[in-house]
Amino acid sequence: MFKEYFKYYKSRKPPPSLKDVMDFEDIPKWYLSFKVKEISGSLGVSDRLNNGLKDPNTWKIYELIDHPGLIFIENPFTALGQRYWTVRCLRDFPFPPNKTNLKEKFDLKVYDQLELKLRWTTLGYHHNWDTKVYSEDDKSEFPEDLAGLSEIIAKKLGYNKFKPEAAIVNYYYFNSTLSGHTDHSEQNLEAPLFSFSFGQSAIFLIGTESFDDKPTPILLRSGDIVIMTKTSHLSYHGVPKILEDKGYPKWGDVDSTEDFDDYNNVLGTCFDGNLWMPYEKFLRNSRINMNVRQVLNDTQQSLSPG
Ligand code: SIN
Repeated sequence: MFKEYFKYYKSRKPPPSLKDVMDFEDIPKWYLSFKVKEISGSLGVSDRLNNGLKDPNTWKIYELIDHPGLIFIENPFTALGQRYWTVRCLRDFPFPPNKTNLKEKFDLKVYDQLELKLRWTTLGYHHNWDTKVYSEDDKSEFPEDLAGLSEIIAKKLGYNKFKPEAAIVNYYYFNSTLSGHTDHSEQNLEAPLFSFSFGQSAIFLIGTESFDDKPTPILLRSGDIVIMTKTSHLSYHGVPKILEDKGYPKWGDVDSTEDFDDYNNVLGTCFDGNLWMPYEKFLRNSRINMNVRQVLNDTQQSLSPG
C-alpha cells in the first residue's frame, strides 16, 4: 500500500487532500485520535550547545503510537540556527572532501546554477548509491558542528552513546520526490537516525517494515526533526511531495544577540542582507534535509575490509 499512498500524495492534478496528513502544529486533533504521545528527555539547559537551538526544556517531542520509535521534535531551532544550517548545507558541505551529485563546479552566487541541479551531498562515510555499502576507503572527516548538533538531540532522547559517522544532505525542489526506501546500510541498526528539515514543507510518509502496509503521512516544516529509532529505523519511508509553506518564514527574524559558537564563520553571512539573499531565495523555493547516521557498532573502530 506504500506505493498507492505515494502515488496519491505525489499527484499534481488533482492535488491530494491534506486532511489525513498529521500536522504537529494542530496537535489537539491528533491527540484526540490517540495517534501521538508526548515524551520528555533528560537534557538540562547546562548541556545546551550554542548552536542555534532553543532551550531544550521548551522542545515539543512526540512519538507516533502507530509507529513505535518514530519520534518528532517540532522545530527546536532559532531563526539564526535555521540560517546557520542553510549556509552550511549550501556554502560549505557541497565541496570536497564531501561528495555531491554534481560533476561540474558551481558558484552559489549564481543561484540558478544550483536550482534543480544540486540533489545530494554526502559527509563522513560516503553513501554509495549503487551498492548501498559503506567502505573504510570512502570516508571523509565528519563536520564537528553537525556532530555536535546530532549528539545534543541524541542525548536529549537518552541515546548518550550515539556517534554521528555518516550523513546525506538532500536538496529538494517543488517537483522533487524521494521514493519509498529503508535505511539498512549501517552496521548498527540499533542507533537512531536523525533527519533535519529546512526551507519549504514536505509530506513525509512513514510506513512499516513491509511495503504492503499503509503508511502515515506527516507534514514536515522548516526546523522539524524526525528521529527514527527502534523498528522505525528499518521502516519504509519517502517524500512524495514538497509543499509551499505559506506561513511566516521560520528563519525570518534573527536575533543579533544570540549566543552562538561560530567556528565556521557563518554568522556574517546570516546577518548581512546581501550575503544572505541567495540562501533566502533557495529556502523559498527548495527544501533541505540533513540526515545523520551512526555506521559502526559501539565496539567497532572501523569497517572490516571488503
Ligand atoms: C531520507 O529518507 O533519506 C530523507 C527524508 C526527508 O527528506 O525527509
